[in-house]
Amino acid sequence: MLYTGKGGVGKTTTAAATAVCAAERGRRTLVVSADAAHSLGDVFERRLGPTPIEIAPRLDASEVDPRVEMLNHWGRIRDYLVEMFHYQGIEDVVAEELAQLPGSEEITTLLAVEKLAASGRYDLLIVDCAPTDSALRLATLPEVAHRALRFLLPTLQAITRVGTPVAQKVVSIPLPRAEVFRDAEVLIYDKLKTLHKRITDPQTSVRIVVTPERMVIDEARRAYTEFALFEVPCDAVVMNRLLPEEAAREPFFRHWSRLQEERCREVSELFAPLPLLRAPLLADQATGCERLAELGRQLFANAEPGDVLSKSAHVHFGRDATGYFAQVPLPNVSGDDLDVAVVDDDLIITAGARRRCLSLPRRLARRSVLSAKLGAGGLTVRFGATASPEEDR
Ligand SMILES: Nc1ncnc2c1ncn2[C@@H]1O[C@H](COP(=O)(O)OP(=O)(O)O)[C@@H](O)[C@H]1O
Ligand SMILES: [Mg+2]
Repeated sequence: MLYTGKGGVGKTTTAAATAVCAAERGRRTLVVSADAAHSLGDVFERRLGPTPIEIAPRLDASEVDPRVEMLNHWGRIRDYLVEMFHYQGIEDVVAEELAQLPGSEEITTLLAVEKLAASGRYDLLIVDCAPTDSALRLATLPEVAHRALRFLLPTLQAITRVGTPVAQKVVSIPLPRAEVFRDAEVLIYDKLKTLHKRITDPQTSVRIVVTPERMVIDEARRAYTEFALFEVPCDAVVMNRLLPEEAAREPFFRHWSRLQEERCREVSELFAPLPLLRAPLLADQATGCERLAELGRQLFANAEPGDVLSKSAHVHFGRDATGYFAQVPLPNVSGDDLDVAVVDDDLIITAGARRRCLSLPRRLARRSVLSAKLGAGGLTVRFGATASPEEDR
């Protein structure tokens, strides 16, 4: 279960409360912080590191430090890039900076989480993620990086196939050695695939944490659209810091309370069919297992904190009387923010700032797009005839 949301809304607090609650109810639980700005340790009032430590019966906690593992996954690939930038006359410090592949830290973080998940020691992993934008990158990168690198690798290999020492004499830029390719292959065909599988696993889900505030809700709903575009499943919205009933009775807070109820209704509609888990504003900070357990009970009541609480729709390809179509779940998006195109075998959908390339099944590839319509079920793309008519049967 991955917890994300705008900065400061209560991701760490509600993730920790979920973990405490799940452990109390008998699940072997690990709560792990994947946010570089770690504060999970503060919530438990304990010092945490990459190796999980016991916090309570059946409850462990840890904080991922991607810098420790960076070298394992990217060492030789990065060394090669530094060498290449050097060759282009870029000085040391800048070359090293440039060789920080965008996304490599997120992937390394995910790989560390995956290792913990695959250890088999836990029934449930709660991940306290970075704010929405980084979390989106975290969740969508395995697919995006896999696609990008899959194209890049054969090209580089083709250049080098002549045999590096010979090729090196012809081409003057430094060429990667065989080990670099091996590392890149392991990364692409092994590690990224494993991560993609984990993220699309039916037991994996994202929970978006919000507070009853306009800007927070706006960011969350954009994130929800983008998660849907990449088929990263979300199963609940956590509404944190709701005024408790006794405060709402005070005249000063009456207006606040009414406003909050309105926002809750709005969130329920925007994020339908996701259930809304409610957490009250506490009189003091929610630190320590006891207070977290209480918050967990209020969040989940009779629901199981570790269960996927609702099912997300997926991209669906089909055929009806009108012809072939693709159905893409895309909540809260308007036609103005949307662009659809087919290039070769890919359906390319741009929603706001994100773009996804979906590989089309063979029967749909290379067809023209007849129409793209937004409706209750999301985006429906209808396909026309193919270049080779016998495939139309
Ligand atoms: N329901 C709540 N009631 C009172 N204080 C809260 C609540 N949720 C979070 N806080 C406090 O708000 C601050 C930010 O919460 P935190 O969980 O660290 O947010 P995030 O991880 O999203 O940045 C912390 O000081 C935390 O103790
Ligand atoms: Mg946090």
